[in-house]
Amino acid sequence: MAVTINTLRERKQNNETFSVLTAYDATFAQLISEAGVDVMLIGDSLGMVLQGNDSTLPVTMEEMCYHTRAVAKGNRGALIMADMPFMSYGTTAAALDNAAALMRAGAQALKLEGADWMKDTIHALSQRGVPVCAHLGLTPQFVNKFGGYKVQGRSDAQADAMVEHARLLVDAGADVILLECVPAALAKRITESVDAPVIGIGAGPDTDGQVLVMHDMLGANTGRTPRFVKNFLAEAASIQGAFEAYVAAVRDRRFPAEEHTFKS
Ligand code: KIV
Ligand code: NA
Repeated sequence: MAVTINTLRERKQNNETFSVLTAYDATFAQLISEAGVDVMLIGDSLGMVLQGNDSTLPVTMEEMCYHTRAVAKGNRGALIMADMPFMSYGTTAAALDNAAALMRAGAQALKLEGADWMKDTIHALSQRGVPVCAHLGLTPQFVNKFGGYKVQGRSDAQADAMVEHARLLVDAGADVILLECVPAALAKRITESVDAPVIGIGAGPDTDGQVLVMHDMLGANTGRTPRFVKNFLAEAASIQGAFEAYVAAVRDRRFPAEEHTFKS
């Protein structure tokens, strides 16, 4: 049965996890979905891993739609989530137009980066039938404001604000929250504070779902390997085996382990 937004909600209610991987093309989308990955994310990380940029900022709507169409063709039952690229949701009007293009390309949910200021845009999208994932914590589109890729939510004030923003955005209509590079205790707190499923990357073992960039989990990493990455191909006989091992490790809560987690 195809995964829907309801599937993710049910998993959370039943205290079961779900797995998410990025996908950018039809071949890998088929392999990933056949391995039982629940959600495929057409991440704007494609600006880095496919295009070779040093940030996600150059990625355009046209490029996101191109990759979303390819992933949709390869999909065998996963939920397809696409990133809205940098500045494509700068105003609510722009967000609605750009969301329409991504949904027409085959996305079934969209992800936006930010904080409480996204409330009205998320509400508008939600009201018009677009499931939204709100990405909080280390939001890579903000790299120039953050002055680098750094763990977020380390101070008490920052942590309290993130809990508040997650609640506010779920109230506004966000169906999913994604937390990137935040201390495990804060991710646990947010996961317990909202009814919506919470996906983590570098956010410890207690979120409802886990996500990794496909290239990273296959060990196809050319730069510095982030702490939260595990190479699942190292112990698998094939790429398909690596995807299956990831699904099993997330399901059984063997991934992420201590060594993949930020304590504070
Ligand atoms: O673009 C991406 O791949 C992402 C995930 C790392 C969460 O946003
Ligand atoms: Na992204």
